[in-house]
Amino acid sequence: MSSKLVVTKAYKYFPLRRSLVEILMFKKPRYVRAVDGVSFAVQEGEIFCLAGESGCGKTTTGRLIVRLIDFTGGKALYMPRKEVLSEIPPGFLVDGKYVDLTAKLPRYVDKLLRRDVQIIFQDPYGSLNPRMRVYDILKEPLDIHALGATDDEKREFVFKILEEVKMTPPEEFAERFPHMLSGGQRQRIAVARALILNPSLVVADEPVSMLDVSIRAEILQLMLDLKATRNLTYIFITHDLAVASYICDKIAIMYLGSIVEKGSISDIVNDPLHPYAKALIAAVPEPDPRNRLKMREVPIKGEIPSAASIPPGCRFHPRCPYAMDVCKSKEPPEIEVGRGRVVSCWLYVRK
Ligand SMILES: Nc1ncnc2c1ncn2[C@@H]1O[C@H](COP(=O)(O)OP(=O)(O)OP(=O)(O)O)[C@@H](O)[C@H]1O
Ligand code: SF4
Ligand SMILES: [Mg+2]
Repeated sequence: MSSKLVVTKAYKYFPLRRSLVEILMFKKPRYVRAVDGVSFAVQEGEIFCLAGESGCGKTTTGRLIVRLIDFTGGKALYMPRKEVLSEIPPGFLVDGKYVDLTAKLPRYVDKLLRRDVQIIFQDPYGSLNPRMRVYDILKEPLDIHALGATDDEKREFVFKILEEVKMTPPEEFAERFPHMLSGGQRQRIAVARALILNPSLVVADEPVSMLDVSIRAEILQLMLDLKATRNLTYIFITHDLAVASYICDKIAIMYLGSIVEKGSISDIVNDPLHPYAKALIAAVPEPDPRNRLKMREVPIKGEIPSAASIPPGCRFHPRCPYAMDVCKSKEPPEIEVGRGRVVSCWLYVRK
């Protein structure tokens, strides 16, 4: 298996608006450190989860990867599908097979990457244009990327993808407007729109969190089926660790713009090491009382601070029950604690 994506020390800082007084007093600009030195690798064919509480930087990381926003710093080497790769001049490639997503690329390379890396948004109500019929929603990306030589060929693509997402008969659903669909059906259309360009990496940003619990499993199963038939790699963003453990192979747990622990989903869900990961996993409702007893409570203190004023040292130290002196001043290094398993915490640094 080769790496599909290798992100190294990625940053995204959003400048905060300064008041007139601050400008007149020459106060330094301040930033929201939404993504603050994040590193992870996603293997081809894997489902990689970015998890963590609201505001920890999951969506921003996803938006960087699909190039909706620019990186402030870092590196992100991405390996496109072979057919796309063959259209990219060697001068823009690293090691002959990767494109650095943080680099300034010409428009046509950018367009090729946009075809190969797609995103599914959380809100199936807000992400589809209410004035367009399903047919036109799905045809639009084909028009933008000049795929399908004739109208008949485009129609064929649209009907085929509708069948793949189980919206059948396709002729009937193609004529509908989004308001004529249920939440689950809309999310199927959002999945179809992401896949119609035949991408190889899909960033799914909380794709089931706004759906009724009863239809979440259906959409997750659809995503798993499509992954198998279309040879996809997913970056799956969720705050729901139960969903993550159902669908993902690996997980990175984020806190205030940084990854605190990453590794295989089973290792981390069954035996989290970082105090924040422990607290997050202990909070997952556990229907089996025997397992519930195994979960030790981790009493984390206070609220998550703002990403505009990240605490020094370990950013989790004001809330951590195990914080030591070193935690207050020095950022913990990434410690490898097993194959592919990394935790950022001073507790695991060998003395
Ligand atoms: N365009 C922006 N301008 C300024 N700040 C932003 C912008 N986008 C995100 N942020 C801030 O960056 C931080 C990370 O936001 P992000 O949306 O990535 O978090 P998230 O983990 O996806 O949260 P949620 O679970 O609520 O979706 C937050 O503090 C957010 O307010
Ligand atoms: S580095 Fe220190 S403060 Fe941070 S999680 Fe580990 S023990 Fe807690
Ligand atoms: Mg988000």
